[in-house]
Amino acid sequence: MDTSILTELREAVGGDGRISTAPEDLAAYAYDGTWAEMQPAVVVHPQTAEQVAAVLRVADARRIPVVPRGAATGMAGGAVPVKGSICLNLARMNRVLEISAADTLAVVQPGVITNDLQRAVEKVGLLYPPDPASVYQCTIGGNVATNAGGPRCLKYGVTSDYVLGLQVVLPGGYMMRTGGRTIKDVAGYNLAQLFVGSEGTLGVITEITLRLIPKPAAQLTALAVFPRLTDACAAVGNILQAGIVPLVTELMDQGATRAVENFKHLGLPTDVEALLLVAVDGDEESVKREIAAAAEILRQSGAREVRQARSAEESEALWEGRRNLSPAIARLATHKLGEDIAVPRSQVPAMIARFQEIARANDVPTVVYGHIGDGNLHPTLLFDRRDAALMKRVEKAAGEILDAAVALGGTLTGEHGIGIFKRDHMASALDPVALTWMVAIKKLFDPNGIMNPGKKLPA
Ligand code: MLT
Ligand code: ZN
Repeated sequence: MDTSILTELREAVGGDGRISTAPEDLAAYAYDGTWAEMQPAVVVHPQTAEQVAAVLRVADARRIPVVPRGAATGMAGGAVPVKGSICLNLARMNRVLEISAADTLAVVQPGVITNDLQRAVEKVGLLYPPDPASVYQCTIGGNVATNAGGPRCLKYGVTSDYVLGLQVVLPGGYMMRTGGRTIKDVAGYNLAQLFVGSEGTLGVITEITLRLIPKPAAQLTALAVFPRLTDACAAVGNILQAGIVPLVTELMDQGATRAVENFKHLGLPTDVEALLLVAVDGDEESVKREIAAAAEILRQSGAREVRQARSAEESEALWEGRRNLSPAIARLATHKLGEDIAVPRSQVPAMIARFQEIARANDVPTVVYGHIGDGNLHPTLLFDRRDAALMKRVEKAAGEILDAAVALGGTLTGEHGIGIFKRDHMASALDPVALTWMVAIKKLFDPNGIMNPGKKLPA
């Protein structure tokens, strides 16, 4: 990168130590949670929104791509730098600016680790429900940029349901506040929600106002052992129809269960098609009643055994397997491609059957798990990238999985985002008129195309 640009960037963020072109830094910032990699030209560490604005002024004037980054735990390549880009590391903007019990909200900088915020608000009896699997590493800014989900969405919704207001820096360095501190706000267009899930393609989120809710007093979990996977799927519908809205309904197929068991030796049964983790929350009395009722429905729906936690500690033990799922699956093969499709809940069994068919036909080893109450599944393909013939089959299978989800009335991604991996499927999955307007919106906010180019939208 031209040294005069580096000088301008150094001035923008207030000096040395906040910008680096050291080879080890460029290498360290080349990745996200996938195997995609590309080194940026420079890594910049702003500490204020004004510094972000100054960086975006330089970048826009010089036409340099900017790729915002939180903890880079993303599963779609969204935070992987593009060639010649500025990696804008927001991890140092990590202050919780306010927690208001009176207004049940928090104001945070984008680099706050999601679990740090959760613990901080829980100290004053409040709850921030979105709970992505990477909650101990990921940042709120990244969660907003991808509209992250997690296991607790069936009851409490996704990140967008908690975003009240944003401060955003736009290309050219313009600072914009949108939304605010109220539950209701219909003044103007809802630009805050436009930025939720925009994957860094419109601007940089520099401050977030989040809605909180009172923290329920109790939570209990049950683990159901299903000889037949289709019965586990039906059980979730049966629980909902009985008037119970579980906090969590997590499915693991036999391959996923075996992976966890081989990794952690938790005593999970590996001879059945599926395990289903169900949790409820509320007051002490209602959770006892609801988990007992849910356990009975699970048995009636075909569960061979239901392990029911009687305390918070026992609940935690049942969670252990699900928490270790991603690293356990990572041990199964050199590389994995974890898809993130979502389908209407009634179509989950059909989607899983289609996925298994696709995997068999393409001869690719797989496992499947996911947040089945949300219809959000992670069909995961296992492979070694160095095997060219296998890679061809993996790409074909991945495309067929995405097509199958869309054909069943679903979507390409429920919570991980489009990033680079799914952009080529946008044209076949989205309404062409809607897609045209998305491209127009991108142009409006980012006329010079500097914000995370090559992500989210088709080429
Ligand atoms: C999960 O649900 O565990 C994540 O969305 C995907 C993963 O980390 O494998
Ligand atoms: Zn997930």
